[in-house]
Amino acid sequence: MKEKIQQLENEIKVLHENPIEIKYRFSETENKEFFGLFWKFHIKPVIEYSKQMAEKYNADYEAVWLGAIMHDICRLTEENPHDELGSKKAFSVLIEKGFNENIAKKVSNIILTHRCKKFPPKTLEQKIVASADAMAHFLSPFYLWLFRYSNKNFEESLGKYINKIDRDFNEKIFFADEKEMIKKEYEVLRKWFEYKI
Ligand SMILES: [Fe+2]
Ligand SMILES: [Fe+2]
Repeated sequence: MKEKIQQLENEIKVLHENPIEIKYRFSETENKEFFGLFWKFHIKPVIEYSKQMAEKYNADYEAVWLGAIMHDICRLTEENPHDELGSKKAFSVLIEKGFNENIAKKVSNIILTHRCKKFPPKTLEQKIVASADAMAHFLSPFYLWLFRYSNKNFEESLGKYINKIDRDFNEKIFFADEKEMIKKEYEVLRKWFEYKI
């Protein structure tokens, strides 16, 4: 099972580095760069945080790993809402790749709940990936990446990102330890984003 998941991770990585469907607002080269960095600065750290928490909290490691790999699969094609559509897409991909229906369903629900919006996470596995998703937003390259490609002006972006880090920190990290781990980054980023407001 682990080799099969690793193989799928590699395939999804290649999709980010060479996005097939150019539906984004950039040129082909920029699109490639945008999604390549999205993999590097977001998806990969979400995978790492998720795997660490799955071990630490004794969760279903395979479901968490697969959920992390595919949680933003519909961002690649700009299909929105990316949680609802991504959960359906991931289910079909997993069935197609020969994973059983039980794990496909579990992964699909992890993706459905990762934004903590219309569908809040309920199970341990769902809370792990939602937390990892929020935690990865506190790695500074993530915001450099967002600013680099933002189509808003600097002040507008700051306002938007301050709300994002507040929501990520206060509502999306479900574990006290992990919240503590991220606290310093949250405070530093918040101070920086507040600078001009
Ligand atoms: Fe997402
Ligand atoms: Fe994400």
